[in-house]
Amino acid sequence: MAGMVNAGALREAVRRKYACVAKDPADRFPYTIGRAGALKLGYRRAWIDGVDPAVVERFVGVGNPFSIPKPRPGERVLDLGCGAGFDAFVASRLVGRAGSVVGIDLTAAMLAVPRRALAKWPFQNLEFRRGDIEKLPFADASFDAAFSNGVLNLVPDKLRAFREIRRVLRPGGILAAADLLVVSTIPRKTLASMDAWST
Ligand SMILES: C[S@@+](CC[C@H](N)C(=O)[O-])C[C@H]1O[C@@H](n2cnc3c(N)ncnc32)[C@H](O)[C@@H]1O
Repeated sequence: MAGMVNAGALREAVRRKYACVAKDPADRFPYTIGRAGALKLGYRRAWIDGVDPAVVERFVGVGNPFSIPKPRPGERVLDLGCGAGFDAFVASRLVGRAGSVVGIDLTAAMLAVPRRALAKWPFQNLEFRRGDIEKLPFADASFDAAFSNGVLNLVPDKLRAFREIRRVLRPGGILAAADLLVVSTIPRKTLASMDAWST
């Protein structure tokens, strides 16, 4: 995407867009979101029912990263671009009390949703932090697994992001990512739309 849009302008557009999503996610995505979206993507009903409805309602992922290898008990897991935190809450249950999960996101308004939900969450192994995937605020080899759902397409410098993800994963650690892929020519109108870049 180098040269097509300005990286700073894209980050700002992403923050603006997801501040709106945090308030009301309805009618902002060209795919099914929330509880219906999670069910369609094969998340277990029990996982969905266990998470605060305000979080579930703002689930806007495009895939199910837990359909690849699921986080295991005791693992240290990172949710890259966690948004309202649905995947992080699911992972928190899967890694259990011996594990830990950190959700990181660029948009403060999105992070306010899972932080409120933490008050009623039975596991103490979960935290949410503000940060940019291109510059992760963690030491080398801090995590056993990282996952990302509908986020990497929004990151301006993907090579930098992948280097950072590799740095914070332990050797042999796993990245599970679900994302939008370009399979045909993107119309000019879409390429020129900051809303399309930031969705
Ligand atoms: C489509 S939403 C997905 C949210 C969440 N993963 C889910 O499945 O509901 C994209 C999220 O990525 C975040 N994001 C975009 N670029 C980011 C970056 N460079 N670093 C951290 N978060 C980012 C946005 O703020 C937004 O919350």
